[in-house]
Amino acid sequence: EKGGFDHFMMKEIYEQPRSIRDCMRGRIYPQQGRVQLGGLKEYAEKLKNIDRIIIVACGTSWHAGLVGEYLIEEYGRVPVEVEYASEFRYRNPIISEKDLVIAISQSGETADTMAALELAKDKGATIFGICNVVGASIPRITDAGVYTHAGPEIGVASTKAFTAQVTVLTLIALYIAQIKGTVSQSKLITLLTELNEIPDLIEQALKHNEEIKTIAAKFKDARNFLFLGRGSAFPVALEGALKLKEISYIHAEGYPAAEMKHGPIALIDEEMPVVFIATKHSSYEKVISNIQEVKARRGQVIAIVTEGDTEVKKMADYVIEIPQTDEAFLPLLATIPLQLLAYHIALMRGCNVDQPRNLAKSVTVE
Ligand code: M6R
Repeated sequence: EKGGFDHFMMKEIYEQPRSIRDCMRGRIYPQQGRVQLGGLKEYAEKLKNIDRIIIVACGTSWHAGLVGEYLIEEYGRVPVEVEYASEFRYRNPIISEKDLVIAISQSGETADTMAALELAKDKGATIFGICNVVGASIPRITDAGVYTHAGPEIGVASTKAFTAQVTVLTLIALYIAQIKGTVSQSKLITLLTELNEIPDLIEQALKHNEEIKTIAAKFKDARNFLFLGRGSAFPVALEGALKLKEISYIHAEGYPAAEMKHGPIALIDEEMPVVFIATKHSSYEKVISNIQEVKARRGQVIAIVTEGDTEVKKMADYVIEIPQTDEAFLPLLATIPLQLLAYHIALMRGCNVDQPRNLAKSVTVE
């Protein structure tokens, strides 16, 4: 049942090339530069004129929502707000018929996310769902939605469901761009062609597993961890920290790299491992200065870098390479080494990676 792997989590990490392919199947036509989302077809006109999108979710799904915010704003040019479902529902939020509220939930059963959606529905908003479990409660109450098609996820720590959620959000961002014409046809062709290659690139990223295991061995006894990234790599940093804390019980925090100097920098000494997402994208140079700030305080730097990088290599204590890709798809690749790092550290600490203490796969209590 674990497909030859020791744990469901590892099986699910390795399934990602396939689950992302399944998620995109029949939905992208790279040569034509076209995205087709059957579930949203009737809402094309609504999406064309929408003024605002609110995403509600919890935990890892909320992190996917944050990645979605970057993508939808960048390509679809629609303002997006991402809310913790539990906060949204209890504060008399301002929503009307003009709004689109999208719930993201692997299980489709999370109590707070469900309640947030019901509230939005009562206020007249259009509600969409991005869920993995077919026929769950959330997809049953939504007006429309897109399934992630990642297949059953057994490990409590979400892995393949997260990357599938990010894939769906990428498709939605490009679909809105296509309907509104905010991205040219030729750019859509380029982007979709590259998106289509992501499963193969994930395959390559997974090949660094042994190196990651060696790095995990060095840091398995750390008490704290910081994860830093900028732009859409910031939610990836949050997700890397959540993975580590939930399965290894090491205290970990994710931050936007630029926020480090507004507080967390005080924590840095030789005992503090800092994981940077330092790939060759728009904020590369800025991230490099953040790495220097950590090194100047003797922090231990583990950097996720673009294949062939030499500059970060000179500064970081450890580097993990991921293949070059367009910035739009960076979250899909950069997440992979962080999942593996959390997995190996947890295992080396003797933790139950598939069923961490105090956690349930789906949180149906409020
Ligand atoms: O089923 P959902 O996506 O609604 O679940 C939301 C969170 O409970 C979930 O993502 C949780 O944070 C995971 N254990 C993270 O790995």
